[in-house]
Amino acid sequence: MGIILVTGASGQLGNELRVISRKYPGYEFIFTDFAELDITAKEKVNVFIADNRPDWIVNCAAYNFVDKAESETESAMRINGTGVRNISEAIKGTDCKFVHISSDYVFDGHSNTPYDEDSSAEPASAYGRSKLEGERAALLHNRSMIIRTSWLYSSFGSNFVKTILAKAKQNDSLRVVYDQTGTPTWAADLAGAIMLIIAAVIRNQIAFKAGIYHYSNEGVCSWYDFASEIVNEAGINCHIYPILTKEYPSMAQRPSYSVLNKAKIKENFNLEIPHWRDSLKKCIKLLK
Ligand SMILES: NC(=O)c1ccc[n+]([C@@H]2O[C@H](COP(=O)([O-])OP(=O)(O)OC[C@H]3O[C@@H](n4cnc5c(N)ncnc54)[C@H](OP(=O)(O)O)[C@@H]3O)[C@@H](O)[C@H]2O)c1
Repeated sequence: MGIILVTGASGQLGNELRVISRKYPGYEFIFTDFAELDITAKEKVNVFIADNRPDWIVNCAAYNFVDKAESETESAMRINGTGVRNISEAIKGTDCKFVHISSDYVFDGHSNTPYDEDSSAEPASAYGRSKLEGERAALLHNRSMIIRTSWLYSSFGSNFVKTILAKAKQNDSLRVVYDQTGTPTWAADLAGAIMLIIAAVIRNQIAFKAGIYHYSNEGVCSWYDFASEIVNEAGINCHIYPILTKEYPSMAQRPSYSVLNKAKIKENFNLEIPHWRDSLKKCIKLLK
């Protein structure tokens, strides 16, 4: 039996976990967002965890405004760093397992081969630094699993897929950067993988192994390729032009390459990961 507490459950990943939880009727899920459990409120986190005694915590709560984080550094650090530390400290010394989600933006993007879990994390942005701080905080507990993911989208919340769909409907053409390479991740796939891992550990089919893991969909593309596929799949007549990052100035520096090597999570937990194009098709179908 397992009590699974999900924080930040009204975001993209949290909502996908709500959907997938229906396939796990044997487990008790507690879904919380800011209103029910503000992870930055240390005492409330302590009391909530002591009262509900979760066996697992999946932390989806985050400050995710990559550009705004450059000027709102303190807010980003408070939610992505201190908030995670509050959870870690509240469960320290207990058997509660902690699944914390981090980001490809902990890397500077100077590599041209996929990043391993032990590749040196050197964030180029305030957002990336706050996510790295969160990783360190999560690892204060010895039963923490950090899953770094990239380019997350979903039929819930706001994201690149929805932005491109909306803009493509209003414009004949769009300009999208083609010198940033990574991998999109459908949050439904990540939620599915998290639940497969949790269920396999609860059923003693697989041992829980703390540490850092990478998860994205399979494949590699640029934001330009991603946008082109989105309009194609949606059947919208809008031309996508490739541009350079320097032609689209933004506050935060983003990694030019952030492909994640997923071998570790696939091997440890026997996961099969769908290709990003196949998952995008499914998400667009849901959005239609
Ligand atoms: N989105 C991406 O492209 C991406 C890429 C790589 C990694 N990730 C990571 O993946 C995880 C899930 O991301 P997501 O896209 O699902 O995030 P999301 O949609 O932004 O959801 C985050 C949720 O956390 C809530 N939240 C904010 N501050 C909180 C607090 N103090 N206490 C409790 N809840 C709080 C937010 O509420 P409000 O909306 O009211 O603020 C929101 O409901 C995050 O760790 C994120 O950093 C995301």
